[in-house]
Amino acid sequence: MPAYPVALLCPVCRSPFAAGSGLRSLVCPAGHSFDAAKQGYFNFLTGKGTVFEADSADMVAARFDFLSAGHYRGLADAVADLAAPFLAGSGSAVLDAGTGTGHYLRALLDRVPAAAAVGLDISKFALRRAARLNPEAVNLVGDVWQPLPLADAAVDVVTVVFAPRNAAEFARVLRPGGRLIVVTPRPGHLAEVAGQTGMLGIEPAKDERLTASLAGHFAARGGRELDLALSLSPSDVANLALMGPAGHHLDRGALAARVAGLPPRTAVSARFRISVFEPLPLPAAPPATDPQT
Ligand SMILES: C[S@@+](CC[C@H](N)C(=O)[O-])C[C@H]1O[C@@H](n2cnc3c(N)ncnc32)[C@H](O)[C@@H]1O
Ligand SMILES: [Zn+2]
Repeated sequence: MPAYPVALLCPVCRSPFAAGSGLRSLVCPAGHSFDAAKQGYFNFLTGKGTVFEADSADMVAARFDFLSAGHYRGLADAVADLAAPFLAGSGSAVLDAGTGTGHYLRALLDRVPAAAAVGLDISKFALRRAARLNPEAVNLVGDVWQPLPLADAAVDVVTVVFAPRNAAEFARVLRPGGRLIVVTPRPGHLAEVAGQTGMLGIEPAKDERLTASLAGHFAARGGRELDLALSLSPSDVANLALMGPAGHHLDRGALAARVAGLPPRTAVSARFRISVFEPLPLPAAPPATDPQT
């Protein structure tokens, strides 16, 4: 049974949740309490919520169907290969930021079952799926651009697969010597179907741009490129279009009409970069001033 071994903080007052918090309810020392939704996740979005547009139910369903069909299995395995060595010690923990349906965290926990895990996503539709897939993880609805509900140095690995990156917060919650593992698309990713399905907006993240966006918090520690040759049915192609950022505004009817004209199988290349970063030492805290002097 999961026992919240990760050092979680109350999203309201940032005090640690009391040890021994129940599985269905978290209560901080100041009395802020969070009940698990029936699927088992906690909603940590407080106050006025967020300006970011969460993935909708049909985008999440498309993502779940596409990933469950195993098309990106090779990517999940490659991420697990890179993360597992940093989760080998007892008491190790991972944060999957923008966990979506929890697909990549599942593959990682199958590889390293002893690791404690937190899956964070802003979409409650995604979290419903993630909580079912990864019941041993703490699944949290939350915004990666808000202070993360984790103590400093709480995790050994942060994984971010096609999701936003808050460099300062990822560096804060990682232990020294831990790793941030980021998956981004490379030029040519899904090129065979991107145009005709309206999947525009998959902007390949240039390697230098990713490194620059993390500069000051992280140093590059290698990684790898991965190409997968996919053979997709028309409904796989529709799912692929809907599950990405274009899914927020795609005309569903027009997409269905376009994929209806595709052959039974379409060859599509998925081109990923998996980048690995190590957190730089945090700036030293200013010396405490003695009120007596
Ligand atoms: C393209 S999906 C990737 C999901 C998952 N990592 C995967 O590859 O299957 C991007 C995810 O980031 C989440 N997301 C977007 N903005 C977010 C934010 N500000 N905070 C947390 N999650 C966010 C979305 O809800 C979505 O599940
Ligand atoms: Zn509190």
